[in-house]
Amino acid sequence: MAIIASNFKTNHTRKSTADFINNVNDFLNTNSISEDVYVFPTATSLDTFATVSNLTLGAQNAYATANGSFTGEIGTEQLDEFGIKTILIGHSERRHVLNESQEEIAKKFSFYSELGYKVIYCIGEPLEVKEQGLEQTLEYIYEQFVGIDTNYENLILAYEPVWAIGTGVTATNEDIKSVHSAIKARIAKPLLYGGSVKVANVREICSLDGVDGALIGTASWKVEDFKQIIENTK
Ligand code: G3H
Repeated sequence: MAIIASNFKTNHTRKSTADFINNVNDFLNTNSISEDVYVFPTATSLDTFATVSNLTLGAQNAYATANGSFTGEIGTEQLDEFGIKTILIGHSERRHVLNESQEEIAKKFSFYSELGYKVIYCIGEPLEVKEQGLEQTLEYIYEQFVGIDTNYENLILAYEPVWAIGTGVTATNEDIKSVHSAIKARIAKPLLYGGSVKVANVREICSLDGVDGALIGTASWKVEDFKQIIENTK
């Protein structure tokens, strides 16, 4: 059974998110699909889905706090109100665009893992590291586990090479297999692949050894495509 997750990033309105989630929920209900499906909408749309039962909603980000003076952030007081118990941590855009340090990421991980949240923890190397070879790539990735309790029971990992995210350039099967098998040898957790996963390649990627599912951005934002992606990994 694959794990299929859609990350909306900064896309969709409350209305279009509600339509999307309800559509996917009905689809999962009527097609007896066994995939574990997650959707990560924007924080402004987390509150609208009390009736959804066939998929899990998660937060793309939150601060390591219940509440307090952290302008622009949300904490568990707000997530609890929406019944959200799943969170993405360490996403490439948080690391490389929003400059979250490994220290901050580890602090966030500790905070949310202590509360029992399901964590999808993202790792992945930039192009200049990939070009140095597999050994350097793995070294870079292992640094992203500093301060992270990889034995945490509610942990899912997502390998997302930075150069493959939103570029249309998917990692090759060989790239995916070699990184996944190395990570899996050290950490016995479900491991998703992310980075230009599409309707056309999701089946093949999810069937590779060491791949337990996919974390999808761009190709998942149209509901019909996301349903096809789920269908293709049945
Ligand atoms: O969280 C999802 C990843 O960043 C992948 O994004 O499918 O647009 O490449 P993408």
